[in-house]
Amino acid sequence: MFKMQVPATSANLGAGFDALGLALNYYNYIEMEESDTIDIESLDGLDVPRDKQNLIYISANDLFKVCGKKLDGLKIRQTSNIPMTRGLGSSSACIIAGLLGANTILGNPLTIDDLVDLAAQIEGHPDNTAPALLGGIVTAVFDGKKVHWVKQEVYTKLKFVAIIPDFELKTEQARACIPKEVSHKDAVYNLSRAALFSASLLTGKFENLRTAVHDKLHQPYRMKLIPNAREVFDIAYNHGAYGAYISGAGPTIMAIVDEENTYFAGKVKFSLDNAGLKNWNVKEFRIDNQGAKII
Ligand code: HSE
Repeated sequence: MFKMQVPATSANLGAGFDALGLALNYYNYIEMEESDTIDIESLDGLDVPRDKQNLIYISANDLFKVCGKKLDGLKIRQTSNIPMTRGLGSSSACIIAGLLGANTILGNPLTIDDLVDLAAQIEGHPDNTAPALLGGIVTAVFDGKKVHWVKQEVYTKLKFVAIIPDFELKTEQARACIPKEVSHKDAVYNLSRAALFSASLLTGKFENLRTAVHDKLHQPYRMKLIPNAREVFDIAYNHGAYGAYISGAGPTIMAIVDEENTYFAGKVKFSLDNAGLKNWNVKEFRIDNQGAKII
């Protein structure tokens, strides 16, 4: 058995819909071994598929197929800390674990670029899968087959504070609510802000982040699927967040906060409780610069 650590991710970062994502220091752990049978167990008691429908297994099987090999079975032991269907990359973590594990079993026939491509083909977009594998902040363009990407390590005084509700939002539902076409003006609105986000994050011009996280492609539509989202944004900004955005497809709302804002998480939780929003929890993270690895 070998053990893998795969980080949670936060995608879109506001305006960078399907293009920007970063890894967080919050991990799923997956142990894996080649086997003649499918033997899957969840070590934290989470109800996960224990057959061929398991996403780690599906992804491992895909990699075997790409390499022209047959997968007879796998022994998998998974510990899933990343909450599911909350916009923190739980399915990408499974995909990356499956691919990294299968590649390791086969003696690493595929390169990192191959794994980034294959993960995006499985997930449909690269903004969670690429940072889960690579770590840091990743800018990615998926042309349908290949991902053209840049990973940048970020050493920053920023904290990423996830405000996570107790309800789920499925990515399919959160994508179905987005209009098929947008105006030229809205396209410019987004592309300028997505570019501003990375440049500002990486150069420390954090006062730009509040402008940079605004978008017209997905968040206005998804807000309607997330009860009390407006109040949560207001609470984050009232306590001094540089910026706040819907993490991935939601429903988690991510606040970007200076490390000197020491009690941000506690103050936000207190305000949420006072506003009758006790079903939202607050967790504080940093950027993970390493990505998935065997530990
Ligand atoms: N970019 C994706 C979305 C991330 O917003 O739908 C979720 O997988």
